Amino acid sequence: MKTPLLQANGLTMRFGGLTALDALDLSVFDGEILGLLGPNGSGKTTFFNVVTGLYAPSAGDILLDGRDIRGNTPQQVYRAGVTRTFQRSRLSLTMTVFDNVAIGNYQHFELGLFANLFQRKQLRQEYERTVEMVHALLNTFNKELAAKLFQPAGGLSMIDRRRVELCRALISKPRLLLLDEPSAGMTHDETNELMDDILQVRSQLGPFTIVIIEHEMNVIQRITERCVVLNYGKKIAEGSYAEITADPQVQVAYLGQEAAA
Ligand SMILES: Nc1ncnc2c1ncn2[C@@H]1O[C@H](COP(=O)(O)OP(=O)(O)O)[C@@H](O)[C@H]1O
Ligand SMILES: [Mg+2]
Repeated sequence: MKTPLLQANGLTMRFGGLTALDALDLSVFDGEILGLLGPNGSGKTTFFNVVTGLYAPSAGDILLDGRDIRGNTPQQVYRAGVTRTFQRSRLSLTMTVFDNVAIGNYQHFELGLFANLFQRKQLRQEYERTVEMVHALLNTFNKELAAKLFQPAGGLSMIDRRRVELCRALISKPRLLLLDEPSAGMTHDETNELMDDILQVRSQLGPFTIVIIEHEMNVIQRITERCVVLNYGKKIAEGSYAEITADPQVQVAYLGQEAAA
């Protein structure tokens, strides 16, 4: 069998007495779009936080391409080719679109203080290369957005802000993109448009792997090839959209949440 691109074995994350991830085994295969589902508080975002090195897990292993990345810093995980978007927007609204996207790439800059002082020319070239890259990437989303490269992000519509956040995660050409509720705060039409964009960018940049956390079931149905459902930090179901939605345990987990709400 193929080695998974990302593999969590017995992954456990405790916050005091609360077990947010409970001995989770989860594999993500190269090139797939995996949906990560589960009621609120089931551990989905925590999974992203642990994988990207924001939290050190209480137990278990995380392998990227068979290599242990447990205990790696967010920067190391990023350099290994894993990027993400956040559930809540993290754009700086006063900064330009360019700056917001390029931040995603500054972590790649090898030029430090020395270069700043003594290698201005090199820095200038690096900057110009980045402008070209960011412009090209925005252009794959749409031309009007690309034309707003040096405008403040605060002037953009909701969907364009989301696109900028996606560009920030894509600028480093990740192998694995983690999307945390990309449709939050958007209308159905905007969500569909954003999904079109994601699929289109993916067809242009190459079939990078995606894990998407999403509550909109029509989004999950449309773009995922496989789904994993969490409840209380445990995997309760795994399979195609049709399989997981027919699963009684999944139905109970979601209904239970509605009854409790
Ligand atoms: N930093 C933290 N400190 C304490 N508890 C946390 C922290 N992060 C998440 N949790 C708790 O872990 C559980 C899972 O949260 P989360 O992963 O955000 O759920 P989901 O994304 O599935 O809605 C929740 O009960 C949440 O309150
Ligand atoms: Mg969450």
